[in-house]
Amino acid sequence: MTDKSCLFERLRCPICGEAIEVTRPSAICRGARRHCFDFSKSGYLNLTAGHGGKGDLKEATDARNRFLGKSYYRLRSDRVVELAKELSPKMILDAGCGEGYYTGRLSRIAPAFGADLSKSGIDLAAKNAKREDLPALYAVASLFTLPVADSSFDLVVNLFAPCAENEFCRVLTNSGHLLVVGAGKEHLMGLKKALYDNPRENPGREDLPTSMVLVKKETLTDTIRVAKEDIEDLFAMTPYYFRTSEKDHKKLSDLEYLDTEIAFDLFLYRKN
Ligand SMILES: C[S@@+](CC[C@H](N)C(=O)[O-])C[C@H]1O[C@@H](n2cnc3c(N)ncnc32)[C@H](O)[C@@H]1O
Ligand SMILES: [Zn+2]
Repeated sequence: MTDKSCLFERLRCPICGEAIEVTRPSAICRGARRHCFDFSKSGYLNLTAGHGGKGDLKEATDARNRFLGKSYYRLRSDRVVELAKELSPKMILDAGCGEGYYTGRLSRIAPAFGADLSKSGIDLAAKNAKREDLPALYAVASLFTLPVADSSFDLVVNLFAPCAENEFCRVLTNSGHLLVVGAGKEHLMGLKKALYDNPRENPGREDLPTSMVLVKKETLTDTIRVAKEDIEDLFAMTPYYFRTSEKDHKKLSDLEYLDTEIAFDLFLYRKN
């Protein structure tokens, strides 16, 4: 079994902020009230303590798990891993980690902690980590109130999830880095063209950090051919799933395959 003790040491009680001691099957805080959190069967902790909403639903996380597993977004994950390697981090936090596809890969560089509000996403992530015996620990938690100590990670990655700048600064070491990735202008234009009469380009991210130092910015682009059996999964993992009429959605079932642009904007920041 992989040693995750260095990750456990960084955990903080979401209720009183004290350190957490792990005595499986529970994790108990050292505060006067000894708040207790049980590990799930798959091995994650629920450290929300009532903060935040629900995160992505099972339909979306299952679809994303299948889709990412087929390497359609390999371009993005390879570059994220490459950039992370160059930074030689000792401890990585994946804020909004979903099903842990990236966390898993990153944990091969350094022990990684993944936080997300989606229980179904975190459950899949924990199962994958257990199966592959990875040094990755997962918690259901809001990325705006991360249950970890100040200055405890030297790399935070934030991929297609809300950017909580103040909280990321709190948990980063002084010389720590934040890697934010968002959808580029043309991302999934082919999917939007298949669905809508007047598809529009994506706006840029509006929640980028303002107090940190931008050290690198790049855009990755490619065109992918999505097989017929994967088109619904791609659709279900996007925000269009909730915004598209039944009539437009049906257009996808007529396709034999889908060619679409993919575009990722990467922003690398240093805390100081
Ligand atoms: C589009 S998914 C991205 C997942 C993964 N990072 C990826 O790139 O494949 C966005 C994720 O952010 C999570 N999320 C949204 N708001 C959150 C919050 N306030 N705290 C924690 N997770 C949040 C969702 O549950 C979802 O898993
Ligand atoms: Zn406590």
